[in-house]
Amino acid sequence: MALLPLAALALLFSKSSFGQRIPKPPRPEPIDIVELPLPPVISSSAVGACTAKANPRRTGCIGQEFTDFQSGDFTPDGNHVVVNLEFIGAPEAPAPGSIYTGEQLILVKTNGKTFANGDSWKCITCGVPAANSQSLDPERDYPHVARNGIKALWGHKIIDCGSTLLASDDCTPDKTHIYPIFWPTAADGSGAGGVPREMRLHPDDVHMGWSSFTANGGQNTYFGRLQFNPNPSSGDVQVPRYDLVDVNLLTDLTGPAPLMVNDNGELEHHPEAIGVGELRGFSGAGDEILYIGPSIEANNIDIFAVHVITGKVRRLTSHPEYADPMWMTAMRGIPPLIDAITITAAASTRNNYQRRFFQPILIDRYGDRGSYFGQQVNAGGDVNWNGRADPAFSYDGTKIVYWQALVTSPACGGFNPLLCPVSTAQGGRTYRVMLARLKSRTPTKPVPVFDVPDFIPWATPFPPGTELPAEYSIPPGTYTLRGKVSGTANATFIADSTTGRFKTVSVEYDNYSDDGKHIVDGVETVTNTADPANPWMSHLDWTSDLVGTGVVRATKETGPGGFQLSIDAMTNAFNANGTLTTTIDGVLYRQPANGT
Ligand SMILES: *[C@@H]1O[C@H](CO)[C@@H](O)[C@H](O)[C@H]1NC(C)=O
Ligand SMILES: *[C@@H]1O[C@H](CO)[C@@H](O)[C@H](O)[C@H]1NC(C)=O
Ligand SMILES: *[C@@H]1O[C@H](CO)[C@@H](O)[C@H](O)[C@H]1NC(C)=O
Repeated sequence: MALLPLAALALLFSKSSFGQRIPKPPRPEPIDIVELPLPPVISSSAVGACTAKANPRRTGCIGQEFTDFQSGDFTPDGNHVVVNLEFIGAPEAPAPGSIYTGEQLILVKTNGKTFANGDSWKCITCGVPAANSQSLDPERDYPHVARNGIKALWGHKIIDCGSTLLASDDCTPDKTHIYPIFWPTAADGSGAGGVPREMRLHPDDVHMGWSSFTANGGQNTYFGRLQFNPNPSSGDVQVPRYDLVDVNLLTDLTGPAPLMVNDNGELEHHPEAIGVGELRGFSGAGDEILYIGPSIEANNIDIFAVHVITGKVRRLTSHPEYADPMWMTAMRGIPPLIDAITITAAASTRNNYQRRFFQPILIDRYGDRGSYFGQQVNAGGDVNWNGRADPAFSYDGTKIVYWQALVTSPACGGFNPLLCPVSTAQGGRTYRVMLARLKSRTPTKPVPVFDVPDFIPWATPFPPGTELPAEYSIPPGTYTLRGKVSGTANATFIADSTTGRFKTVSVEYDNYSDDGKHIVDGVETVTNTADPANPWMSHLDWTSDLVGTGVVRATKETGPGGFQLSIDAMTNAFNANGTLTTTIDGVLYRQPANGT
């Protein structure tokens, strides 16, 4: 799985039980949106630029741009949200305000009130004594307040304020601790440990999920338990820390692979297979793990949920318009065969540098069905403010917080034909935190937390010293995949001789249909000619000539000379020659111009 952070999706998980009849989709609901306050913006980061004039209370200033900005979720009372930002221009110690410097975690009031000092926000990590914050690595992403309100996750760190609520005025820097999280992976616990990313705390405040890249450009996802280790005797981080123990690799070694060759030498597609790609979090009760999974239709990347006990997989977002490039995804019912070559590029075209093609969408816990595929939270908003990952619900279900970033150069301005927008935020800031109030909802009690076991029945225990199990992969060759209703897809997979990874996939469709509503005919071939040494780089040479019949008339076609796309999944700068166009009942979706 080589998938990267995807859409900003707000998923509502208001009930902990499921499996009953799926209700009718909800009707659109009224939503009010306000921007939340942040510390004042200054234009210089020079020492002392955050003057008494800029901030009379001497509680810090921030800059117009900060690419690692991120807002997280609510405190249990719903009156605060957690935010990672960067303070600039602090005066030198011991002048007042000197502690408001660098990347820090703050809480922002959501109810228009203020903390005791008169600010509408309060820094949690500023001025924490060095003895309380040792051996911290630079990662500060996905800030999250624990459900108990006294702990927070901040990158690879756990913050606590003893038994005091983080939002309380009594939570002061001297009472605050910031502990590193350590993942022992060597059998004797030695060394630097594993490198987690996308860390998420389970709603029980004790278990955690995280992903980690593999050397060949994939990633695995894990589940484990946080255990405080006051006096570690092994590993590079020899300070009080939280260890990740009872680690599970979220792979079902006994289940089917999403795409596999059967004993008759034919291909089988298993949409029910557990294929946990990048972790996106947990359901509100913690009974399901949310992740980006292997696509079920070609290049159509989706959010899935898998139940922690039963392993039942639910596809929550099947519609191509969430975050997928419509020009390569809008034709439905194509099985995910070319994805062996194209999926990294498809995931990477979700943004172009700092221009991101998504906004927060509210969908109910049952996911897409019929013509329902959610409600845009900020419908009619300014498209130059782009949605960012991980919107969050308040525990009472009446509010959503999300954040946005403004398009900036080089995705606009200079040689780019698109002009850079002028910021509408205070001080010309290019990031903002938004609060959406779901006006027609009455507050509900948060669901009870699901009692998750340390070891997930379908997962693979992964104690320190374990090697990653070999991943199933289709042997190179030509295979037939039979449509569940009709027809065949004959696919040829050719591997690169040095890396063994697929280099070319070529498919011939003949009346292929999985649902009897979308029937696919034609041919499609994609070759990746990028240097195989860099798994993040794609240079695709693509030809498509597909026709879809049934409930809609669709075509997916490349122009003369085909379509060539080059994209690096680490920078997401779109660059292409030729054309790839999809039409659905006469509506045309064409790839964007380079750099836009
Ligand atoms: C697909 O492969 C099957 C089995 O080899 C063959 O019978 C069929 O003719 C092929 N279909 C096309 C369209 O080539
Ligand atoms: C093609 O498949 C559809 C159902 O998907 C079926 O109704 C039709 O008869 C098939 N056509 C041929 C020529 O097999
Ligand atoms: C597009 O064509 C130009 C000129 O031949 C070439 O330099 C460039 O690498 C091509 N881009 C892609 C994505 O293939």
